[in-house]
Amino acid sequence: MKQLAAMKAQLELLLSHVGEGIHMVDGKGISIYYNNAASNIEGLSPEEVVGRHILEVFPSLSEQDSTLLTVLRTGAPIYERQQTFTNYKGKKITTINTTIPVEVGGRIIGAMEISRDVTTVKDMTERISDLQAILYGHVPKAGGKKTGAARFTFSDIIGESRCIRDLKNLARRAASSSSPVLVWGETGTGKELIVQAIHNESPRKISPFIAQNCAALPAALLEGILFGTIRGGFTGAEDRPGLFELADGGTIFLDEINSMPVELQAKLLRVLQEGAVRRIGDTRMRSVDARVITACSENPMDALEKRQLREDLFYRINVVSLEIPPLRERREDIPPLVEHFINRYSEKAYRRVKVSEEVMDIFMKYPWPGNVRELEHAIEGAVIMMEGDVIKPVHLPIQIRAYFSHSQGNAWNHDNLNLNDALDKLEMDLIRKALKKSKGNVSMAARILGIPRQTLQYKLRNKGIDSVYAGD
Ligand SMILES: Nc1ncnc2c1ncn2[C@@H]1O[C@H](COP(=O)(O)OP(=O)(O)OP(=O)(O)O)[C@@H](O)[C@H]1O
Ligand SMILES: [Mg+2]
Repeated sequence: MKQLAAMKAQLELLLSHVGEGIHMVDGKGISIYYNNAASNIEGLSPEEVVGRHILEVFPSLSEQDSTLLTVLRTGAPIYERQQTFTNYKGKKITTINTTIPVEVGGRIIGAMEISRDVTTVKDMTERISDLQAILYGHVPKAGGKKTGAARFTFSDIIGESRCIRDLKNLARRAASSSSPVLVWGETGTGKELIVQAIHNESPRKISPFIAQNCAALPAALLEGILFGTIRGGFTGAEDRPGLFELADGGTIFLDEINSMPVELQAKLLRVLQEGAVRRIGDTRMRSVDARVITACSENPMDALEKRQLREDLFYRINVVSLEIPPLRERREDIPPLVEHFINRYSEKAYRRVKVSEEVMDIFMKYPWPGNVRELEHAIEGAVIMMEGDVIKPVHLPIQIRAYFSHSQGNAWNHDNLNLNDALDKLEMDLIRKALKKSKGNVSMAARILGIPRQTLQYKLRNKGIDSVYAGD
């Protein structure tokens, strides 16, 4: 018996560390296991899922379209089904799922779903097709709205706050030069938008804009894609120019630079210093003139400290540094953004909609962990859901409504003796105090609390706390 328990513990430990999301239900459709990876993909914590019925946790699903329930019903496995959904940060996620029945003695006692997040790979494939379109001469005529490549300009960047105005000014000045630019900001703050705007305002705008996400590919593949290969360079290699060559005269945008394997960062540095690339397996150097813009979704100083980013490369790419603050630190941008997205989505739906005062109030207070993207999706979703012409709180996504029901709830009054609620509240209070003491610096707050930074970040994300809220 003891041995069995130890084996179960080991198995659970193993499952909590695999990269694939794993979700198991019993014969009635009640969740019995939900690992960390599943939690990261879907944005729900195991506590919210385990012990509850699938349809209760995912109200948008039905008996028919839940793969887990279908497998319980039919007993037939479903292999490699692609699924695209919008997660709690408003980000579109694509997963590939395999769902299998769990049988004991010929009887189905549950089902298990394994999901792999392929969002970045999918984005990449789409990029490649955009690229091909350019290569094969389907470049849109000048003046027309471009598709694929770089289509945003500075007029697409909405925001009246001091920091956005300063940022636009700085970026405009950077556009006229060929200096490397590093843009950083949380997810959904508009990094790609500003990078494209810089390209489109630069003298290079008539030349290619080529983007590559450095987190999307393993080192070996990425190296070939960036620098090119020659026939015989390795088994199966062909003569193929890399993205640096394709971006010659234009701009190359390296997104999530801190996810580039460090050994490749050293090679990138050499290319930048020499202004030339050597294809894999080649002896010859080819000179390239591509302007390099990089982006990072965390503070580059933290990436340096964690050795995700080489210091020598950092100094090379950080000639112009543009930081986009999170939306919660520039709330004056919310009203113009709301107006912008309302216009865009009402036009698409052929109707005129407004937001109620209550919703505007919620928008001004919510911490927006998914930033502008989350706001955009909240409005897009509401316009689709609503029936009248006023967006009300009920039309908002669940994570926004849940935030307010938690933070304004009365977990701390004397009638409520629920221990979990009280501990939760105490934890939040301590975190807020630590953040206040550290002036919002997450690493320092984690040290004060005596927990790893990642744990604190996970808690902050989950509880929707941010440094602004730390003060109240
Ligand atoms: N200032 C802004 N004005 C108008 N739209 C914006 C602004 N900032 C962001 N958006 C919109 O929000 C969405 C996300 O922006 P973008 O893709 O540039 O974010 P990102 O910082 O690159 O995010 P990630 O780190 O997740 O890649 C896009 O649809 C973009 O058009
Ligand atoms: Mg981006």
